[in-house]
Amino acid sequence: MDIRDAIQERHSVRSFKNLPIEDEVKNKLNALIEQANEESGLNMQLVCDDPECFDTFLAHYGKFSNAKNYIAVVGKKSMENLDELCGYYGQSIVLEAQMLGLNTCWVGGTYGKGKCKADTEAGEKIVCVIAIGYGETEGVKHKSKPVEKLCNVSRDDMPTWFKNGMVAAMLAPTALNQQKFFVSLVGDEVMITAKRGPFTKVDLGIVKYNFEAACGHKCK
Ligand SMILES: Cc1cc2nc3c(=O)[nH]c(=O)nc-3n(C[C@H](O)[C@H](O)[C@H](O)COP(=O)(O)O)c2cc1C
Repeated sequence: MDIRDAIQERHSVRSFKNLPIEDEVKNKLNALIEQANEESGLNMQLVCDDPECFDTFLAHYGKFSNAKNYIAVVGKKSMENLDELCGYYGQSIVLEAQMLGLNTCWVGGTYGKGKCKADTEAGEKIVCVIAIGYGETEGVKHKSKPVEKLCNVSRDDMPTWFKNGMVAAMLAPTALNQQKFFVSLVGDEVMITAKRGPFTKVDLGIVKYNFEAACGHKCK
């Protein structure tokens, strides 16, 4: 599976098998997280065997089952673009996890905020968590807004690379599947912006990562 397959095959999974993440896989994930933290300045952390974090009324409402492992997406409150960075680097781990045979779900609301076991230093906050494990299913493809609503280029005028990027952007997870982003192609430059709403800046980072990973074209 390459990263494009991972983008296609990733869907939110909220029910997991009652299996621990294998040590070898855990080590690989930890190495990827460490590398992403070094590059971004974030403090993402893999927490395993902690069912309490999802043992809340909200999590039941959100239908989580056997969710025991998560990546806490943590960073300094003072960081410029903290939410966007969390989305961008978190999604890089989500896609690597997919390639390692794991399933995930970004979780911004339906987890126990006071119960998350991440180590936060002074001035840091937990922006969200990503549930991770071996899914009971692979999840299902989400409904998407039509491409015309999400970018400024008509279907017929899209260069192939841009089309590949848009397909990946439309497959990106967004909070409440709100897809409050807009992709503009001006000359050769791609700019992606976020509309207002909860977690839309985290969504923006996720969408940018998917777009870039699919077509190799850096976005602003
Ligand atoms: C930033 C963010 C926060 C999210 N928060 C939650 C949440 O609190 N609870 C939940 O069940 N799903 C949550 N999701 C998952 C979305 O509902 C899901 O990504 C969206 O419906 C699209 O579906 P897909 O991920 O299967 O493509 C969140 C997703 C993102 C990107």
